[in-house]
Amino acid sequence: MKTKILMVCLGNICRSPLAEGILKSKIISDTVFVDSAGTGAWHAGELPDSRLIEVAEKHQINLKNHRARQFRKQDFKDFDIIYVMDKSNYNNVIAMAETASDKEKVKLIMGESDLPIEEVPDPYYGGEDGFEAVYQMLDNACSNIANKLNNA
Ligand code: 4NP
Repeated sequence: MKTKILMVCLGNICRSPLAEGILKSKIISDTVFVDSAGTGAWHAGELPDSRLIEVAEKHQINLKNHRARQFRKQDFKDFDIIYVMDKSNYNNVIAMAETASDKEKVKLIMGESDLPIEEVPDPYYGGEDGFEAVYQMLDNACSNIANKLNNA
């Protein structure tokens, strides 16, 4: 059985596609499936933000095949763990949960990191530095997630 992990942010054009790409790059097991989604629909069908694509490329991660999609209730059934980027994402996803088991799947991704940071800030309205900072945070959290999965 595959372990299925969903990364969730607001637009699915910045943080969660990067988290998906970073985690995929660290996973050596073919028993793990990783996807991402946004709680909002504004960017559905779009490529990630061009600033994000550039920062990801610097770190050898290709995000050009990603297309944004909206989080849906079915995702609670299709995924085992739902990592959200911030507390607002958490509240949006929890509001769509129907069972206690749905709610238990939802976790703040930085809870997996070694950093004293609770949330991945939205880089959308900031500068280029914000995207690199987001990369470093997600790289830390995804290293720990991948270590657990690769040793499972
Ligand atoms: P993301 O960033 O949630 O990391 O994909 C955002 C992208 C777009 C918007 C907000 C956040 N937006 O409001 O359009």
